[in-house]
Amino acid sequence: MKTEKIPVITIDGPSASGKGTIAQLVARKIKFHYLDSGALYRLVALKTLQSHADIHDADQLAQIAKHLDIVFKNEQIYLEGAIVTEDIRAEQCGLLASQLAAYPQVRAALTERQRAFRQPPGLVTDGRDMGSVIFPDATLKIFLTASAEIRTHRRYNQLKEKGISANMADLLHDIKKRDERDSNRSIAPLGQSADARLLDTSALTISQAQDTVLSWYNEIVHKASV
Ligand code: CDP
Ligand code: CDP
Repeated sequence: MKTEKIPVITIDGPSASGKGTIAQLVARKIKFHYLDSGALYRLVALKTLQSHADIHDADQLAQIAKHLDIVFKNEQIYLEGAIVTEDIRAEQCGLLASQLAAYPQVRAALTERQRAFRQPPGLVTDGRDMGSVIFPDATLKIFLTASAEIRTHRRYNQLKEKGISANMADLLHDIKKRDERDSNRSIAPLGQSADARLLDTSALTISQAQDTVLSWYNEIVHKASV
């Protein structure tokens, strides 16, 4: 099958809107591959911290991004053979990831790696620019969002479940800071593109959000087949 014929569902949106949770559930349901593009930026951030690289040297960071030795397997993420699934979720990694993600060189170094996930029978992916830049011809593009307060509560509960204590005010501040940086950068900024459907999950359960994505996708597939 030609790559451009392989279906892709992109779910972009701000932090803690539910992108990863919903994208994974949808992928599992329709047996598509799944790409968490944010994990790639978080891995570059972790490797940058581990190697004490200069966070202002975009070319050096792009080299790190280009040569990252990573494996996604059985719901675990490996960096140079070590499991880092939980480590990259630290808010420190998220904040640094959003700093590094503003460099065009870093983004360019990750482009082909992301596109390589487009394999039969299809791909569900989440991030910030999956529909706008990486897969502009995606079958279905969604901009998933929720209010900053609700997203902060969700992140807080997520951390609590993992036994990590967090301060709600600090979390809200970090989430807003990251949203602002992601939305205002000059390259691949976070935002709803004209061809993306808006899905506000503020008042939706995970299952309702998942059903909406599936029904939109089925509607598109059905239209294409008649
Ligand atoms: O990937 P992203 O940062 O957008 O968010 P996530 O990690 O998938 O979701 C953040 C948290 O919100 C998770 O604990 C989800 O279970 C929860 N969530 C929710 O409570 N209700 C929704 N409609 C969507 C997500
Ligand atoms: O889970 P959460 O939404 O908090 O963040 P993430 O998706 O893991 O992404 C971490 C950071 O990587 C974001 O704040 C963005 O700055 C960056 N990112 C990006 O620029 N482009 C993407 N496609 C995915 C993530």
